Amino acid sequence: MVKVDEFLVERWMNEYEHDVEVNMAETCVQPFTLREFLEFTDRPDYMDEIMDRQLTYGWIEGSPELREGIAGLYRDVDPGDVLVTGGAIEANFNSFYSLVEPKDTVVSVYPAYQQLYSVPKGFGANVKPLRLLPEKGWLPDMEELKELVDRKTKMIVVNNPHNPSGSLIDTPTLRAICEVAEGVGAYVHCDEAYRGLYLYPADRVPSVVDVYEKGVATGSFSKPISLTGLRLGWITANHEAVHQFKLRRDYTTISKGMIDDALGALAMQHIDRILERNNRIVKANHRLLDEWISDEPLMDWVPPRAGSVGFMRHHLDVTAWDICKELIEEKSTFMVPGDCFGFSDHIRIGYGNNIEVLKEGLGRFKEYLDCHR
Ligand SMILES: Cc1ncc(COP(=O)(O)O)c(C=O)c1O
Repeated sequence: MVKVDEFLVERWMNEYEHDVEVNMAETCVQPFTLREFLEFTDRPDYMDEIMDRQLTYGWIEGSPELREGIAGLYRDVDPGDVLVTGGAIEANFNSFYSLVEPKDTVVSVYPAYQQLYSVPKGFGANVKPLRLLPEKGWLPDMEELKELVDRKTKMIVVNNPHNPSGSLIDTPTLRAICEVAEGVGAYVHCDEAYRGLYLYPADRVPSVVDVYEKGVATGSFSKPISLTGLRLGWITANHEAVHQFKLRRDYTTISKGMIDDALGALAMQHIDRILERNNRIVKANHRLLDEWISDEPLMDWVPPRAGSVGFMRHHLDVTAWDICKELIEEKSTFMVPGDCFGFSDHIRIGYGNNIEVLKEGLGRFKEYLDCHR
């Protein structure tokens, strides 16, 4: 049996997400209903249009329209080097499954979406954590990275924008990370599930595949595209690496659902407007949340720069786990304890949801804090 650590954040979400009134743990930007999406794309009758398609396996690696649309998100990616996957989660898995071997060194940011270090560890790699700290803006320390990298390093794993903190590795730092990797011939796997959500437009950072020949980028329809329920994502890299991904993907996926693919391709035709909508949502919500935290002496944070999640520090004398459990029980309000990321003095909040949900949740959280001052 392949040994695997419990994926703490997914276990937590799974256990409580559907039993709470107010969900501030949501990382996706206000997912569309199917009707809203079809109206947004001016194709209200689209489901009728595809009604007579035979439900075959469809295009094995993703339809040409979908792959072309995704390739268009990069400066220099051939649609043939894009593989459609079951969310970014399958894309990440495929990269580790394809490229990581027992005894390889994998340097992975920590804290992070746990898949990014637990899966390489499960495949037998020696995973070295690259510590991200609030004092350093939750960004990688380049000196520390150089010390961690050794001649067995197969891969450096980063996540940009970063979950849980919302930090953003800027272009010079991304290039510097790639240079360190290049020195030992390693890949840089960058989970870009939140790419496209920027609080400051001048911050736009290229994908790792547009700056490094051995870059591997994974992307998602869940967060910046608001079509979480399609369960679509993708992976792209150089031609040789993609060939390896294809060989592995045949064993896990065959193809994704053809209805999902068709809706994903439609989204790609309207990607600029979708991102505009979603950047408006995260900016307004971020402002509200930042003001709330500034007024709240029991909380502080390093404000996120991008994405739809933030990591707040609490100043109560208990663990975030206890706080989040009590919030569920007493206020039916849901966030993710930093314990799931190895930081029990932090709480992860998502700010991509409807602003009314955020207001209600922050109101209830305030009432809770008022009882513990
Ligand atoms: C950093 C990161 N990567 C990947 C995923 C998985 O995304 P998807 O819904 O596309 O599978 C998540 C989901 O929360 C995430 O936060």
